[in-house]
Amino acid sequence: MEVNSVLVTGANQGIGLEFVKQFVNLQYPPRHVFATYRNINTVQTLENIKNLSSNSEVILIKMDVREASDIKSAFEVVKGKVGDQGLNLLINNAGAVEYQSFPEVTEENLLFHFATNTIGPIAVLKAMLPLLQKSASKNRVTGMSVSKSAVVNISSIGASNTKLTEESPREWLAAIGYRISKAALNMAMRVAAMTIQDQGILIVNICPGWVKTDMGSNKADLEVEESISSMLGVLSQLNESHHGAFLDRDGTPMPF
Ligand SMILES: NC(=O)c1ccc[n+]([C@@H]2O[C@H](COP(=O)([O-])OP(=O)(O)OC[C@H]3O[C@@H](n4cnc5c(N)ncnc54)[C@H](OP(=O)(O)O)[C@@H]3O)[C@@H](O)[C@H]2O)c1
Repeated sequence: MEVNSVLVTGANQGIGLEFVKQFVNLQYPPRHVFATYRNINTVQTLENIKNLSSNSEVILIKMDVREASDIKSAFEVVKGKVGDQGLNLLINNAGAVEYQSFPEVTEENLLFHFATNTIGPIAVLKAMLPLLQKSASKNRVTGMSVSKSAVVNISSIGASNTKLTEESPREWLAAIGYRISKAALNMAMRVAAMTIQDQGILIVNICPGWVKTDMGSNKADLEVEESISSMLGVLSQLNESHHGAFLDRDGTPMPF
């Protein structure tokens, strides 16, 4: 896998931060690693990675995925750095959960999840599309791959209708807003994938597993290092057969 440039949203902690860490330590690290955050007081670890990284330039960008002006500014920063090469890989990782169950769930809670987990990633993809198109057309790699031009959306098993059964833990029902926003994300990205099928930009949705982060809690199954190294292994194998798919972190197809 030779990724020339990668943009990771929500990179100041958790899964996004670990993506940045592992990208800069790859055998062939990206030339540019764009890492977004919302609050400058939370970027100390990112700053340390930036200062220690000798082969990748790590560029920190302030971006709330619900703010159109932030996304526009981020586009300008990325465009200014990557130039004619375009953006190689977008990882739509930023996401949030606020637990509320049916029927107590409020409209505000539903809209919060939809804005952050569905509209946000769509808006970021829309903004970065010209740069992804540039990478797809410039890159001589044949077929689809993350070494050419790709979008990876961090989805969740919680988005799967099929996986929600009578046997599922009752706690799964406690995040209705989160679940429907991730299900909508999966559909949105599948539609986008099919719409731009002929542009050479690979789009996939992937579930990281249940990971020990602020969101996943310390009860989760996986250390963040394990989840990300597994996903990077999968990313390196992706091709056109995965376009529009929903995958588990080990590459197994996940039912919608
Ligand atoms: N952990 C799991 O078990 C698990 C399982 C399935 C899917 N996921 C998905 O994995 C992704 C990363 O989650 P995580 O576990 O790493 O959680 P996390 O530690 O809570 O990190 C979430 C990241 O998203 C950022 N974020 C939240 N709202 C944002 C917004 N409006 N604009 C920009 N950034 C925003 C956060 O920024 P702040 O620090 O500023 O809040 C933080 O950087 C999410 O999409 C999540 O749904 C996680």
